[in-house]
Amino acid sequence: MWAGGHPVYMSEARGARVVDVDGNEYVDLCLGDTGAMAGHSPEPTMAALRDVAGITTMLPTADATRVGEELGRRFGLPYWQFSLTATDANRWILRMARHVTGRPRVLVFNWCYHGTVDETFVTLADGVVRSREGNVGPMVDPAETTRVAEFNDLASVEAALAAGDVACVLMEPALTNIGIVLPEEGFLAGVREACTQAGAVLVIDETHTLSAGPGGCTAAWGLEPDAVTLGKAIGGGVPIGAYGVRAELAERILSAEDADLEDTGGVGGTLAGNALSLAAARATLEQVLTDAAFARMSALRERFAAGVERSFAAHGAPWCVVSLGARAEYRFCPEPPRTGAESAAAGDRGLEEYLHLYLLNRGVLITPFHNMALMCPATTEDDVDRHSAAFDEALGELFG
Ligand SMILES: Cc1ncc(COP(=O)(O)O)c(C=O)c1O
Repeated sequence: MWAGGHPVYMSEARGARVVDVDGNEYVDLCLGDTGAMAGHSPEPTMAALRDVAGITTMLPTADATRVGEELGRRFGLPYWQFSLTATDANRWILRMARHVTGRPRVLVFNWCYHGTVDETFVTLADGVVRSREGNVGPMVDPAETTRVAEFNDLASVEAALAAGDVACVLMEPALTNIGIVLPEEGFLAGVREACTQAGAVLVIDETHTLSAGPGGCTAAWGLEPDAVTLGKAIGGGVPIGAYGVRAELAERILSAEDADLEDTGGVGGTLAGNALSLAAARATLEQVLTDAAFARMSALRERFAAGVERSFAAHGAPWCVVSLGARAEYRFCPEPPRTGAESAAAGDRGLEEYLHLYLLNRGVLITPFHNMALMCPATTEDDVDRHSAAFDEALGELFG
């Protein structure tokens, strides 16, 4: 999906910089679509790997306990398990939610993305649930497994839960994968209440929204999910996923005696919770993605957004910028979109390609789909200013 017909081939990456095979250096604001929110090869993480690389025992390590405790402190959930991807964390919590509720369906939001989770490849077309365009070889039509609500439309959530057949609501607290869509006042509290009333498990996917702060939106906005899933960034470049659950949900899961949680019941994996992933996550959480780092990253994002807004004003661009902690995104519309559908309608592939290529040719990488930029602990003010200057030039050419 990189603009320009073929991707830049990378030869080196460190901190917030990437070097390609021709020796060109880029400021990396894509950061592996959040996989490198901790920066590339953060030193504390690299140091922690040396003693554990190459070990696969299927035994837990003390690092697993420390990471569970740290995630518990950040997200307010006491019990954690690990996978190798956020996709798998989502897949497994969906299975557990179906198992403990005895209900078949999942509720997601229009234009969501939660990894390659079968049930989530759906959109709404004129209010009807449809398999998402391009869905590769679905096992069953996802319209059979999934109900779809519109973000910021509580009535659509309540309607989708009304039949009482939804095991679980899986949502990002702000959509990030169709451009950033922030929740309106009261929406997330309304979803919480609707789940409680309907007996559905509320799973908040913080894989991207961790950008909001050390405990993601859950901590920043005081949310009360039954479960949180995440992955990518917390391994500092080493594959990991994680899901945490409230004590009551853990009890329900563990008391489901016919659930084979250890062997061939459909959750878990041979390398899940391996020593390398957990050593990386411990070092990354304790020493890299710290409270202080998030404060710096958020301040840099403010600088980024201010630069973008200055250019909008200077060139009369009728666009806006939407931010979430360390992450920001420019949108081709005057007001931030309120729903996934509005956000999808505000996309413009041609404009995106123009901007992405323009920036790439001036040494700045942003996420190849829509216009997301992320700060990491190694990002500097100069990096942000390099983007601001190139973006301003690009708008100058566009708007004359
Ligand atoms: C919100 C969200 N959840 C889960 C995932 C899946 O992550 P992974 O591809 O690492 O499994 C993604 C990937 O972009 C994501 O954006």
